[in-house]
Amino acid sequence: MRHSVSDLTAVIRDRRTIYPKDMSDRPVQRDLVEQLLGNAVWAPTHGMTQPWRFKVFVGAARQRLSEFLGTEYRRNTPPERFMQRKFDNMTERPLLANVVIALGMVRDPNEKVSLRDEQFAVACAVQNLHLTCTAHGLGGFWATGNAMTGEGMRDMLGLGPKDACLGLFFIGYPRIDWPKGYRKPLPDVVEWIDR
Ligand SMILES: Cc1cc2nc3c(=O)[nH]c(=O)nc-3n(C[C@H](O)[C@H](O)[C@H](O)COP(=O)(O)O)c2cc1C
Repeated sequence: MRHSVSDLTAVIRDRRTIYPKDMSDRPVQRDLVEQLLGNAVWAPTHGMTQPWRFKVFVGAARQRLSEFLGTEYRRNTPPERFMQRKFDNMTERPLLANVVIALGMVRDPNEKVSLRDEQFAVACAVQNLHLTCTAHGLGGFWATGNAMTGEGMRDMLGLGPKDACLGLFFIGYPRIDWPKGYRKPLPDVVEWIDR
């Protein structure tokens, strides 16, 4: 074996979504965020396009992000579908998490691999990021609502017309007990095919 499988398994199974409302205001240091992102970029990437671009919002920039999300939500939502609770959640979250990372995806100029593969690669990077958070005892939450993935967000981040934001990843130390998870038993999701 090249690594401790039991350590790896423990981190994978312990990774939990922890929401900003359950995060404390304990600062997450910049060098730690760099370590998280340093692991994120070791995700697999078809054609080595490395499509991820991370925009890290900290401090006062989170207030700007919060206001932007509120405006986007209003802009994208017809008045009859507007939900105050959703608006409040969306605008509060960036202020409750110590660090918010916008998950940018850029298209290769020659589009040498499919859009789907670029999205998959970014998703793998997010998993690396989230697992590294878990190893540090940090909570993480990936959110993908329309206000976070639409054209307005893409433009606000300075991404190009073929690029996209694949959501926001919120990071903070939890102020709750580490949550328990559950998964379906393997026989529900695995089929062996041998002839
Ligand atoms: C691509 C993706 C998008 C997600 N978006 C949201 C979201 O918008 N809102 C939300 O409450 N949870 C979101 N989640 C988190 C899931 O709800 C969470 O992963 C699931 O409940 C399993 O919990 P666990 O992560 O603790 O194992 C998202 C997860 C993924 C992978």
